[in-house]
Amino acid sequence: MKLASILLAGLLVLPSLTADAAAAAATEKKIDDLLGRMTLEEKIGQLNQLSGFGYDPAMVGRINAGAVGSILNEVDPVTVNKLQREAVENSRLGIPLVFARDVIHGFKTIFPIPLGQAATWNPALVEQGARIAADEASSTGVRWTFSPMLDISRDARWGRIAESFGEDPYLTTVLGTAMVRGYQGDDLSKPNTMAACAKHFAGYGYSESGRDYNTTWIPEPLLRDVVLPPFKAMADCGAATFMCSFNDINGVPSSGNRYLLRDILRGEWGYDGMMVSDWGSIQQMIPHGYSADLRQAASQAINAGVDMDMEGYAYVGHLKDLVESGEVDMATVDEAVRNVLRLKYRLGLFDNPYVDEKTANRFYLPQSLEAATRAVEESAVLLKNDAGVLPLASDIKVAVVGPMADAHHDQNGTWSFDMEKNRSVTPLESLRDIYGKDKVIYAPGLKHTRDRSTDGFAAALDAARKADVVIAFVGEEAVLSGEAHSRADISLPGAQSALLKELKKAGKPVVTVIITGRPMVIAGDLDSSNALLYTFHGGTMAGPGIANVLTGRAYPSGRLPNVLPRMSGQLPIYYARKNTGRPAAEMTLIDDIELEAGQTSTGCTSYYLDAGDGPLFPFGYGLGYTTFSYSDPVLSATEITPDGTLTATCRVTNTGSRDGAEVAQLYVRDLVGSLVRPVRELKGFEKVILAPGESREISFTLKAADLGFHRLDNTYVVEPGDFQLWIAPNSAEGTPVSFKIVH
Ligand code: NOJ
Repeated sequence: MKLASILLAGLLVLPSLTADAAAAAATEKKIDDLLGRMTLEEKIGQLNQLSGFGYDPAMVGRINAGAVGSILNEVDPVTVNKLQREAVENSRLGIPLVFARDVIHGFKTIFPIPLGQAATWNPALVEQGARIAADEASSTGVRWTFSPMLDISRDARWGRIAESFGEDPYLTTVLGTAMVRGYQGDDLSKPNTMAACAKHFAGYGYSESGRDYNTTWIPEPLLRDVVLPPFKAMADCGAATFMCSFNDINGVPSSGNRYLLRDILRGEWGYDGMMVSDWGSIQQMIPHGYSADLRQAASQAINAGVDMDMEGYAYVGHLKDLVESGEVDMATVDEAVRNVLRLKYRLGLFDNPYVDEKTANRFYLPQSLEAATRAVEESAVLLKNDAGVLPLASDIKVAVVGPMADAHHDQNGTWSFDMEKNRSVTPLESLRDIYGKDKVIYAPGLKHTRDRSTDGFAAALDAARKADVVIAFVGEEAVLSGEAHSRADISLPGAQSALLKELKKAGKPVVTVIITGRPMVIAGDLDSSNALLYTFHGGTMAGPGIANVLTGRAYPSGRLPNVLPRMSGQLPIYYARKNTGRPAAEMTLIDDIELEAGQTSTGCTSYYLDAGDGPLFPFGYGLGYTTFSYSDPVLSATEITPDGTLTATCRVTNTGSRDGAEVAQLYVRDLVGSLVRPVRELKGFEKVILAPGESREISFTLKAADLGFHRLDNTYVVEPGDFQLWIAPNSAEGTPVSFKIVH
């Protein structure tokens, strides 16, 4: 850039920066003024978040006394306004409340669970979903959502994997940032926005053995390179709030973790948003064995940097005494209150505290339903399609089988508090719309996904015999994933796998559609199926979205946001693993071991005798109705310095005969490091739509500075040496090219 244009760009940017800084300074002055007028009790009140029970006299009394700062779970706009009036007009200082709700994958129009949204690899679509959620929820007065969840999730036993963007920090960062943009828009003070909440800070996804709330041990390099990057991105993009996590991390519960909450978040990252506890998590430091009683827990939490106590009664119960006895500084309380008030100013609540009851309902708008349908389509991952069974022809008779075919409630997945199940359209309904009622023979076979009774199998097999194709909708009910819903065995529950086997007896092509909340073990089910479409709880429009993909009205373009294991015993499993000192080149699997074979005869390499050394499907995997080819990547240089950049380019071509979307994925490996590096790490991706025969050049620019890692002493280094780079359709394919980082 020439000097003149740099100056011009500077001039254009400068006035708005100054205006922002001036507005921020004015807000801080208003907060100073309020803080100067608040009693200690009123300050503590701002740090207290309670769950709502309507227009409840006890709650009204607390609000009038200035003893509540935020209410969660109140979604009736009339009640919201009545409660707000009590705060604004009938409390001494008139500080507005902020109303919060878990709007995690939609409010009324339910989108696919976050794991499904991750499978779209489409940040624009994720942003649009969050915008719609904010528009719907804010129309009831909810201005704060506890989303996005950014916990890197590599153990599919953990039920909360459903709420995550999967196993990879880069994908999670990109999609999390998009979600925040969608919720918060470009101006958080607009009444149709919601403050985002980056959660759970931090390490919750590493809950030992996938059991919820369990302990975590996370060494510093793993914390810094995998767990924290998405959170750092949230601080950088202005996510208005953070939530700490339930787990202890290296022995210290997050709610009392000064290192995470103060040293890293506030100190290193300069975050000035607000930190809320998780539900009762301050109090839960007692059963953790970190606090002797609620008083100590309150002291540990506020000193660690938890600003607001969600339903824990620790601050209202004990902070006054702790300040008066000198165990907690008034300055610490003031800082927490400042963070809460700053959030309320940023939301524009002081100027505009009430929700407009007249325009309250912006639910299920046609464009919202259309976006939700597209999200379902793009989140569907095609894993098998033998002999081109899919897409289905239009002039056939289909047997619709399985407990998830017509599950109005369960297709919505976890966190759909506000959904109305009669608004969800099921696959059965959509297929009837498409084929006509008499061309669809419905026999569920099982009543629900945990059903073990085979009583319905005969009718299902009969339906299969009468049809040209069987579509079996199996998976998990909503309640089998999400918070506190971990499973030790992540195969299809109940008699679903047996049902799939039974259906094969009809001799008709079996198309299996999995509708689930997690990556599952499906190796056997894959064998029972001619085609398999893997989908996640899709929400309101799961039916139309899936039916469109099955019938070719849309094409599958989802890619796995987690590897799919062969067996539960492989968990945790993820693509960015280390190579080990004895990687398995050849494997003798359990059935091939000779009787009385010598102990070392299987080669002494790193694999399971029964599951091999890898997953069933790799991260990033997914088929379409067409095929793509990749040219070898071409690099702009083969050597770069640690402050340099590299461009990698390749050509992707649609080599098949149908339209399709391909997700080109950029991976890098640092071959030798002073700490052992993963075999591959995702560094970029792009989803492109190509017509048959069409090709597109795809370019990624990599900064050498982004190819470093944290050492055990916590320093970040970009080490010189040899690297490999792939542009590939998934984490297991592609031809690598080499480059070096040189000093
Ligand atoms: C507990 C969950 O861990 C958190 O994610 C959620 O936002 C809160 N409860 C509030 O419901």
